Formats: sequence, structure tokens, C-alpha cells
Amino acid sequence: MLILGLETSCDETGVALYDTERGLLADALFSQVDIHVEYGGVVPELASRDHIRKTLPLVEEVLAQAGCDAAAIDGVAYTAGPGLVGALMVGATLARALAWGWGVPALGVHHMEGHLLAPMLEDEHPEYPFVALLVSGGHTQLVRVDGIGQYRILGESLDDAAGEAFDKAAKMLGLPYPGGPHIARLARQGTPGRFTFPRPMVNRPGLDFSFSGLKTYTLNTVADCREARELSEQDKCDIALAFEEAVVATLVIKCRRALRQEALDTLVIAGGVSANHKLREQLATALSREGGRVFYPAPRFCTDNGAMIAYAGAQRLQAGQLDEVAAPVRPRWPMEELPPLVAVGAG
Ligand code: KG4
Ligand code: ZN
Repeated sequence: MLILGLETSCDETGVALYDTERGLLADALFSQVDIHVEYGGVVPELASRDHIRKTLPLVEEVLAQAGCDAAAIDGVAYTAGPGLVGALMVGATLARALAWGWGVPALGVHHMEGHLLAPMLEDEHPEYPFVALLVSGGHTQLVRVDGIGQYRILGESLDDAAGEAFDKAAKMLGLPYPGGPHIARLARQGTPGRFTFPRPMVNRPGLDFSFSGLKTYTLNTVADCREARELSEQDKCDIALAFEEAVVATLVIKCRRALRQEALDTLVIAGGVSANHKLREQLATALSREGGRVFYPAPRFCTDNGAMIAYAGAQRLQAGQLDEVAAPVRPRWPMEELPPLVAVGAG
């Protein structure tokens, strides 16, 4: 079954072709980072307009990359939520129009389910059940995954998402949006031990997160440095390192706690922040000591992309699931509301 996937929930237009027999055939991405950079964050209306411009050319690009004709497509999957409502509506409308024209089914995919399943695109992928840490710009969640659509939220952020905290800390240091990769880059030149930031909520039981205190601590440290003199490049690197270490340590502690609680040994990390090298290294080290394993998507599939939507949609379309033509987009959409996957003919 050949599925076209469209991702337009935020500031990336992602399009991909996934075949349930042959795997990922093609994927193309346009990042709007340059459009939003001067505003220090995503401007929803500009995002929607650019998705309108980019989606169809990217569809043509993936068809050319895969060397196939639109007539070969068996279904269209698109991100139906969560995300920016205008941006979601562009993808949903285009996907439904294409599917209608081609006479094939269309299905709205949950963006975080896309992230969660992205490691399945790799040759070496995890087996169910596992614990997933979803860390993106909008979400920080620990989820028990027993199969597609069988999700139980174990813990989540009570305030900012981890990616959002990276973005805000970066802004305090005068770094461009999105800030995560910039913080990670500066942290490499940081002086270990100059600053130690608090690890939020690690001493409390449970699996929830909170990053707003860490944000305030970062702001105060920046202010203290500024009081002495202008913030130097080395100050920025040292603050970036202390911030990254605190976020990573917190995430590692909670992941280990979640695995212990669920008596599982497999962890999946996904979402934009899972591209962070320190997080990957420290999770791999911590888990290998305990006989566990960590899986993550290829770096290009950590942040938003069409491949994860094509994959998730393909699994559900293959099982016979489809939406009504007038299916709305869901800017807010709890992942636990997703139906479990029931194979065609089963039950
Ligand atoms: O999943 P994603 O592309 O979009 C959302 O669905 O939100 O995640 C984007 C987030 C941004 O907050 C960005 O700063 C963060 O992921 N990010 C990183 C890194 N690369 C991207 N955070 C830390 N380290 C990175 N290397
Ligand atoms: Zn995302």
C-alpha cells in the first residue's frame, strides 16, 4: 500500500511517500525557519500561507524522487492535530482534495503519534511494549506504548515543554529561534562546573515535569552576569551548558523512573529535542548499565517531517481506518483518545 503523507502542523512542510512493502520511498521538507526568525517565534498566519505555497510542489518532488505516478497512490495521510489551526487546515484541505481527486481514502494523523512511531522507520526498531519520551516544542510526555493507538500517559510537563524551555533560554542568550540546536552548539564550549542549575521536580515522586523554574533560574543567572559586565561569549556558553545539563539530567532521571515503574527495558525518544546529542548519550549510558535499550529516529526524522505521518497513516489505513470527508482538524487532541489499531478481519 503506497501512502502519501503531509505534515503542516507548525513551521515545516513535510511530504513523504511510504510503501507498506518497500518502506520509505521518498521524503521532502521545507523549513520555514528563515521566514519566522525575525519575529523570534512562529507567526501562525505566515506559516499557513507558506504551507499553501510549498505543499503541492513538494508532492511533485516526492513523486519524482520515487519515480512513481500519482495513480499508484493508495491513500493520503495528513496531520490533523495537534498544532496551529490554520496550518493544519491547509494540510487537511490539500490532502482531502488530492484523495478525492485520486479516488483514494484520506486519514487525519495525530502529530505526536507520528513522532512516537518515527523510530519504526529505522531498520533496527523497538518491539512493543515500550516507554516513549516525547520531547518537542509543544509537548513533554512519558507514554507507555503497548501497540499503535494503545497509549497511556505516565507523566507530562505541568508548564513549558522541554523544547519550549530550550527556545526561551536561547532567547535570553540572544540566540535565534528555534533555540535548541544553538544552545547545544554553545554548550560544547561551556566550562563544566561554572554554573549548576537545579534539576526541577526530580526529588518529588511521580513522572511529571516542570521547566518554568529552570527558566527563571536561567534568567536570573543571565542578569547576575550582566550586572558585572556585558554577557561574554564564554558566559553564554557556560549558561547554555548548565541549562542543557539540567534539562538532560531531569529527562534521564524521569525516563529511568518510568521504565522501573512499568517494569520495561525499552525506551523510545522522539520529537525535536530527541535530536540532542547529550540526551542521547546520557540515556544510552544510563540504560546500558541497567540492561535497557534506547531507540530514536534518524536525526532528520526527530524534528517535524512527512515520513512519520506517512508511516503512521499507512499503518492505520492498512488496517481499514478512515475518516469522514468532513473530518475536522484538532488543534488540541489528547493522544489517549486515539483508537487502537485493529487489523482488517480481526476481532
Ligand atoms: O518536534 P519539533 O520539530 O516540533 C514540534 O512539534 O514542536 O520540535 C521542535 C523543538 C524546538 O523547540 C527546538 O528548539 C527543539 O525541538 N530542538 C532541540 C534540538 N533540535 C531541535 N532541542 C535541543 N537540542 C537539539 N539539538
Ligand atoms: Zn513535532
